Amino acid sequence: MSNKRPTWTSKYSFILAAIGSAVGLGNIWRFPYVMGQNGGCVFLITYMFFILTICFIPMVTEILFGKITKKECVGAFEHANKKCKYLSYLNPVTAVLVPSFYFVIGGWIIHYIIISFIGFKSKNPSVYLSEFVQNPILAPICTLIFLFICIFFTARGIKKGIEFINNVMMPMLVVMLVILTIASLHLPNSYLGLQYIFKPDFTKFNSHMLLAALGQAFFTLSVGMGSLLTYGSYIKEDKSIVKTAYTIVFSSLIFSLLAGMMIFPAVFSFNLAPDAGAGLVFVTLPKVFMQIPHGNFVATVFFILLFCAAITSGISMLEVPCATIVERIKLSRIKACLFLFVIIALIAIPATLSFGILGDIKIFDKTIFELIDFITSNIFLPLNTLFMCFVAGWFLNVNGDMIFKNRVLVNVFNIGLKYVVPLILIFLIYIGLK
Ligand code: TRP
Repeated sequence: MSNKRPTWTSKYSFILAAIGSAVGLGNIWRFPYVMGQNGGCVFLITYMFFILTICFIPMVTEILFGKITKKECVGAFEHANKKCKYLSYLNPVTAVLVPSFYFVIGGWIIHYIIISFIGFKSKNPSVYLSEFVQNPILAPICTLIFLFICIFFTARGIKKGIEFINNVMMPMLVVMLVILTIASLHLPNSYLGLQYIFKPDFTKFNSHMLLAALGQAFFTLSVGMGSLLTYGSYIKEDKSIVKTAYTIVFSSLIFSLLAGMMIFPAVFSFNLAPDAGAGLVFVTLPKVFMQIPHGNFVATVFFILLFCAAITSGISMLEVPCATIVERIKLSRIKACLFLFVIIALIAIPATLSFGILGDIKIFDKTIFELIDFITSNIFLPLNTLFMCFVAGWFLNVNGDMIFKNRVLVNVFNIGLKYVVPLILIFLIYIGLK
């Protein structure tokens, strides 16, 4: 095994991979339903504000952290300060836990690709979903297939695995999303869906919506578990990354918007409820697919689209513990990936089964799936971001000069990184724990 660290083939490989990481189930599955539950347009405006301000700072910092240190998470924190190493371990741990629930949804998507292709049964879609998620054999198998695909491409390394999959899937994702959005906008009364997304109703503004938008913003930008740090550590050029950072933010925003413009016009066109929650794409949309011409074909394309988005994000999660194992424990990439496969499977299978036979196991009143989601989203992700800002701002001396030329922006960035963002994160963790 050579000791040389891999690097991206070109600057664009990094940008594409980072967009692949950012754009995922968070944008296409979660964004529309969280927006649906939080009043539509006001949520969108708040989300936009957050990704351009509060979340932009830690996002750039995370990429810079990797780019400056050229190491995986643990090594990067150690580079900043020997003792800071201890603050970094939570990153690979989070990057094992998040896939353990994210890949459960990945498994559902695989199943839905197959059933859309075969043809939806005329059964009620919500009955169908609940029967499938409770199936003690089929559901875990789908989760494992999804995990296997992600592990397989991670094991192939940066060029043959991560770059390859992003080069193939990201263009497919864009084409499918644009086509489906145009088709959805042509449905009768689609304007009602657009109104819902773009016409603000400020009475819907409340603190719950604010927190939902902030959490969503961090999640869709992939901040808080070392994905961007690890990807950033493979950058070889010494150019400024500010344009790259904007490209990632705007892509994530555009994908979320397109997802909304694809889903809500269709939902409103068929008089369905926009606030169905997590079942929006698995229950509400199949109702649409069952009524439109070529519904099975459209459904298949839609679930392949979700699949592409989920795979490219999933791989960026696995790269975090994989790089840590390869560089710290000096295992080969293949062995590291096999190890990760086993560990994640051991957590993901109970998480999958918690929708069915393990549904009665409740810890703090939450099922296994809900618990992993809760701990990672409310505690680990913001905590990792907090540690990263702290170490980058106070020990690694990440400075606004590295990104901006304008003095005002430089100062805003520095104050944001050292004080404002950490305080907001502490507040967020406090609220999350209440
Ligand atoms: N951003 C991805 C999504 O929207 C998920 C993701 C990938 C992620 N890597 C991450 C979220 C790192 C938080 C941290 O689906």
